[in-house]
Amino acid sequence: MSNSVAHALKAVLADSYALRLKTQNYHWNVEGPNFRALHVMFEEQYNELAAAIDEIAERIRALGERIEATPSAFSKKTNIKDGDHTLDESGMVKDLFESNVKIVETLKTALKAAEEVEDEFSVDMMIGRIGVHEKAAWMLRSSLPDAVRSKAAKAADY
Ligand SMILES: [Fe+2]
Repeated sequence: MSNSVAHALKAVLADSYALRLKTQNYHWNVEGPNFRALHVMFEEQYNELAAAIDEIAERIRALGERIEATPSAFSKKTNIKDGDHTLDESGMVKDLFESNVKIVETLKTALKAAEEVEDEFSVDMMIGRIGVHEKAAWMLRSSLPDAVRSKAAKAADY
């Protein structure tokens, strides 16, 4: 077992927590003609993240590390920027799309760390998380207006 894997998983945990909060922020604050569909999709996504966060944190404990589970510790470790509750609905969807693409980078770093020490369980977990966030990115991108969609996908190199 390896601290390098636990370290990489802590970055995944911090990103997942930040993304969960941003998704819930937008669940609460979204307004516009697609309110119902987006409100429901965001809820599905933050509920999925809540369950995953517990699994990731418990994997870190199984690897022998403690977790500094405080807002300030998480905010130092995450690459996900805070949400902006004043955005319009397509601004929120675009931000969540970009954040789901971003977390895949963190997951791939953790995947490599786990592969290096043949930690198959963490490898499997990271592959599963990559699939979840790539699917979320697709759903969010597909919810964007045409003009925003192609630009956002190009900018995220997606
Ligand atoms: Fe709700």
